[in-house]
Amino acid sequence: MSVTDYTKCPDADRPEIAFIGRSNVGKSSLINMITNIKGLAKTSSTPGKTLKINHFIINDTWYLVDLPGYGYAKISKKMRESISSMIKSYILKRENLICLFVLIDCRIPAQKVDIEFMYWLGINSVPFSIVFTKSDKLNEQKLKTNLDNYLQVLAETWENIPQIFITSSESKKGRAVFLDYIENIVKQ
Ligand code: GTP
Ligand code: MG
Repeated sequence: MSVTDYTKCPDADRPEIAFIGRSNVGKSSLINMITNIKGLAKTSSTPGKTLKINHFIINDTWYLVDLPGYGYAKISKKMRESISSMIKSYILKRENLICLFVLIDCRIPAQKVDIEFMYWLGINSVPFSIVFTKSDKLNEQKLKTNLDNYLQVLAETWENIPQIFITSSESKKGRAVFLDYIENIVKQ
């Protein structure tokens, strides 16, 4: 199911989690990796592929939601603002949303748009975790350095650092741990 407005989402009758993050960070790929269904969520090497709120029902018990990316520069300001307000009203008003996963490309230093977005979640009391994506693109050493740097930036705004996952949709690294966590929170 694919909608452009949170009021048109399916009935809020089961727990829901959602993936959010900058365009091209790997949200749709992570959905395919988690579900083991290639091509379930449409992916693209060109940013701005996902433009709607997409619900996937998992095991008939919970919803996994693919959201459009934020902060994509190559679309009109009007379009960007309309996506941003669609995302924000979905996040604030969707009553069965139990956790939001903010995806961050592990190769890229902390970006203002992500830090500000997480700050916005914080002031609105929206629970979230961070998922570092594309970890197959870095060696262990570089990955560790980047994560340490990111944690330092987070520590500037967050007293308690959110839960963190390290994943790769390419190698499936981190899949079991991440899936375990999700299955636990949707059961509660
Ligand atoms: P939008 O829908 O445009 O917001 O993007 P998205 O966040 O859904 O990204 P998408 O899953 O479409 O992936 C973007 C690009 O990154 C694609 O070319 C993917 O193949 C690639 N990609 C995603 N995850 C990984 C990963 O873990 N490793 C590698 N190497 N590439 C990845
Ligand atoms: Mg997408």
